[in-house]
Amino acid sequence: MSNYTRKNIIACMGDSITFGHGVSATRERDAWTFVLQRMLADRAKVLNFGINGASASEGCPESYRASGLLDEALGCGADACILMLGTNDTKERIWNTQAYKMGMRGIISDVLRKTSSTQPPELFLMIPPAVFPMEDGQTAYGVSAEILTGQVIPIVEKLAEDYCLPLIDLYTATKDHPEYYLEGVHPNAAGNLAIAQQVYADIIEWLEAPKEGPKNMTDYKSLTMSVKAVTSECPHLIANLANTAALIWEYMDDINWAGFYLVQDGKLVLGPFQGKMACTEIEIGSGVCGTAVAQEKTQLVPNVHEFSGHIACDSASNSEIVVPLRKDGEVFGVLDIDSPSFGRFTEEDKDHLEYLAGLLELNLFKE
Ligand code: SME
Repeated sequence: MSNYTRKNIIACMGDSITFGHGVSATRERDAWTFVLQRMLADRAKVLNFGINGASASEGCPESYRASGLLDEALGCGADACILMLGTNDTKERIWNTQAYKMGMRGIISDVLRKTSSTQPPELFLMIPPAVFPMEDGQTAYGVSAEILTGQVIPIVEKLAEDYCLPLIDLYTATKDHPEYYLEGVHPNAAGNLAIAQQVYADIIEWLEAPKEGPKNMTDYKSLTMSVKAVTSECPHLIANLANTAALIWEYMDDINWAGFYLVQDGKLVLGPFQGKMACTEIEIGSGVCGTAVAQEKTQLVPNVHEFSGHIACDSASNSEIVVPLRKDGEVFGVLDIDSPSFGRFTEEDKDHLEYLAGLLELNLFKE
């Protein structure tokens, strides 16, 4: 994992509300991203990646991904991204619950994808502002207030929960203020100011947090988010365990084996893993893995050579952690990680990996 210095580039991704369509004549003064830039002054660089008409929905011709702006936003080296899409998706010809969900998930995954040399940006999901009908009772552009409140908002809230992302709520900030709008959909200067104030209030804590990233420690937040993202929609046990082993391998430093053993016919049998080939069967009660199952307890082993009965699959291993995996309270397997360093795993690793095991239980056996 790299150490990094944050430049505080904030990429704002969205539709015409982010672009500043309601204040087009004075956009560089009044659009909320520009107001936010003035509020933050030289503490951050705020970039506007809004595009008129953009939606999140997969397969939609106006999709944000298809516009090319997503790639531009991801290429700017942002430390934080603020993503707000959904208002255009509520139009009758576009709305499709599944397409919106999948489109948002796709964009979120693209933003959070970790490269070998950089941290993923902090991603803030933003609930779009309220919309109001015009004098004729219609909402401008065919936008639907019902779909916005009944579908888009709960989906955005659920996504924030699933991916553990901070949420900025523009709906609550605007719902009692029809005077904030040009035509009930696009905020005017007063509306943009209110949005900038809300965004400022919700990002300032992140902005003022220490600038150095953690050193030589596993980025468990990103690891957990990635495991959640890949396993939550996939119903296949082996595929989910294989991807989880791959993610642990990618995110954890100083390890030489990471994988799973699964209980089968009263024994532990080798499951998906990364590292050198390993023994295929372990008796319950034998070795570190079998002990974790017999005792139904995580085994934190600082020196494997002092663990009576340790089974050496890779002679490079010097320390090990084995975490039981449960289904309905019953142990059905273990997560096993080995390191060539003595004392590689700490109580903190144990806590995080037990949390990950709990997350796997939820995602491996969903309905
Ligand atoms: N060391 C383990 C055996 C599995 S390998 O580490 C992959 C044990 O003692 O159970």
